[in-house]
Amino acid sequence: MQVQMILNKCKENLVDLDDHIILILKAIDQNISIIVEGESGTGKTELAKTIAFALERPFYRVDGDENLTITQLRGWFDPSLVIESGFGEKSFILGPLTLAMSKGGLFFFNEVNRAPSESINGALSAMDSSERSIEIPQYINIKARDDFYTIFTLNPSEYIGTNPLPEAFFDRCIRIHLTHKTGKIAEEIVKLRTNCADDELIHKCVLFTEKTRSNTDFERGASIRAAIQLTQLLMNEENQDKQIIQAINAVYSGKIKLQLDISRSVEECLHEIAGEVFFENRPKN
Ligand SMILES: Nc1ncnc2c1ncn2[C@@H]1O[C@H](COP(=O)(O)OP(=O)(O)OP(=O)(O)O)[C@@H](O)[C@H]1O
Ligand SMILES: [Mg+2]
Repeated sequence: MQVQMILNKCKENLVDLDDHIILILKAIDQNISIIVEGESGTGKTELAKTIAFALERPFYRVDGDENLTITQLRGWFDPSLVIESGFGEKSFILGPLTLAMSKGGLFFFNEVNRAPSESINGALSAMDSSERSIEIPQYINIKARDDFYTIFTLNPSEYIGTNPLPEAFFDRCIRIHLTHKTGKIAEEIVKLRTNCADDELIHKCVLFTEKTRSNTDFERGASIRAAIQLTQLLMNEENQDKQIIQAINAVYSGKIKLQLDISRSVEECLHEIAGEVFFENRPKN
């Protein structure tokens, strides 16, 4: 594998993730499955997609939820085709996992901890670097091509609607932890995603977002996604204070969560931070 060449390609779309990219490329080369974990907006999906693109391999995405069965993952027999031609290749519809195994490419399993444990257990043999196969009852043992690889994501701070992952799952994977980018690096990401030429505006949008994460009134702050959106709404405009407040409310009110003991509204808390960042403590209008 041409690690340096692939890394250079990834760097066109990813900021400050070189060490993670190199580690992931090494793991892919050795058929080791990867879990990318991190809070919302830390770049998990972008990292996986960019690597698949740089490797020029197809990308098969599955999003974990409680209804995701192992049958949906690995495929099923189409009853009408079974009547026509019996159990076999012709009547078996490949699922995203077996499709990626047979055609090669990245099997990207997003939010794996939202899927039922049975479904993950059923996929373990595909991830095992010595097996790399899946047994389909009444059919065959589907073997993975050499260029099949798996990346899982999970958000460790989300518990509602998630399932404990089996120990055997973690045993087969390496784990990479992403954190929120801050300061100049976060500004570089926002610039890359928005093409905004106004560095001062980017700086303020990033700073505002960071303040939602450090402010003790909030149980949960916003991610760089919010900074990107706020920049997009405010760039190329002569913004009055009113428009800035309106954009801030629209971007942040659904993303942040107040601590239970805070009696002020989300909007009031946001306006206070807006005063510090955008209006230099001028009275709000
Ligand atoms: N290091 C980075 N380099 C370039 N872009 C980044 C980086 N980190 C985050 N982004 C951008 O931030 C946004 C959020 O990233 P992404 O969708 O990958 O987050 P995520 O961790 O998958 O979040 P979620 O858990 O909500 O799915 C995207 O627009 C992505 O392009
Ligand atoms: Mg994602």
